[in-house]
Amino acid sequence: MKALILTTEEIEIQNIEKPVAQAGEVVIKVQYGSLNRRDQWARVGLYPGMTYNCVLGSDGCGIVESVGDGVDASWIGQEVVINPNQNWGEDPRHPNSKTYTILGMPKNGVFAEYVCVPADRIHKKPAYLTPKEAAAIPLAALTAYRACFYKGNIQKGDNVLVTGIGGGVAQFAAQFAIAQGAKVWVTSGSDEKLATMKTKYGITGGANYKKEDWQKDLLKESGGFDVIIDSAGGSDFNLLLKTLKQSATLVFYGATLGSVKLDMPRVFFGQYTIKGTTMGNDQEFADMLAFIEKHQIHPIIDSVRPFEQIIEAFNDMRDGKIFGKVVIEM
Ligand SMILES: NC(=O)c1ccc[n+]([C@@H]2O[C@H](COP(=O)([O-])OP(=O)(O)OC[C@H]3O[C@@H](n4cnc5c(N)ncnc54)[C@H](OP(=O)(O)O)[C@@H]3O)[C@@H](O)[C@H]2O)c1
Repeated sequence: MKALILTTEEIEIQNIEKPVAQAGEVVIKVQYGSLNRRDQWARVGLYPGMTYNCVLGSDGCGIVESVGDGVDASWIGQEVVINPNQNWGEDPRHPNSKTYTILGMPKNGVFAEYVCVPADRIHKKPAYLTPKEAAAIPLAALTAYRACFYKGNIQKGDNVLVTGIGGGVAQFAAQFAIAQGAKVWVTSGSDEKLATMKTKYGITGGANYKKEDWQKDLLKESGGFDVIIDSAGGSDFNLLLKTLKQSATLVFYGATLGSVKLDMPRVFFGQYTIKGTTMGNDQEFADMLAFIEKHQIHPIIDSVRPFEQIIEAFNDMRDGKIFGKVVIEM
């Protein structure tokens, strides 16, 4: 079968053996996968626990083709989404550091014609989503769900800022906060993305982080934020602190622009809470699926591309040329 393999040099499409379901596992014919920034970090050797010669891809939707011993055969033929968490463990607050992994390195992921996963990783595809849309959900929406609710505790009426709205996770965070009844502002380096978010997604306001004093405009417009969800980090992190209300919370799940020398006095004088977060636990995955179904949330999809163009798709994500998720037809 065709698969996207991470080698020590690069990523490349190779032919590998189709997997066979062992006891407790299912083999899924992958219909669609979607890219995450994690895949690009792995491509350039910058992800913790780098392992080579495996299939990348954490987010996918497909049809169960076969099941191993001990798995309910009624799964065969069902459309499913895959929870990319593997071995989170018992503590809902954090994954088990010794055994936790994410689908798509070290274990073979979804950028292949077939993927084999433990049967308890699959969930029925939410009926209101197309398979393309469902493939855009798992890792990004789970990260956003935990950031917004378990960590950010976003409430109806809160002022919320989500940075870098073009990002795969950020788009979900903004939509989840709006569904919760918050007033949502976003930042972007693109005026077009800001305009789309205003006209189509009901954000209250936004600012272009490439413009000088963008944070002052946001502060003036909003009166300050109760919760900020960030993944850019870098030098703008201290500017974000200036837009928080007293006792507010800043949640971050990434540091795309690198680490920062923190403006510590501002944090303690402001009584701020800064929280790091990652994807979520298995209960949060199930809760996230119920939440998107209840609120009929659809992912923002940048494009759907054939598997043969997956490397170009990686390059576009690397170069920041996308808005939302890039979906790959397998
Ligand atoms: N810890 C975890 O479990 C976890 C899970 C998912 C993601 N992450 C991390 O979170 C980050 C985002 O992931 P993703 O998959 O959503 O990435 P992505 O889709 O590649 O999004 C990157 C976005 O960052 C935004 N950006 C660039 N410069 C910025 C700046 N100066 N200020 C604010 N935003 C800026 C851009 O937004 P515009 O296009 O709007 O300008 C861009 O679209 C990555 O570092 C990723 O590794 C971590």
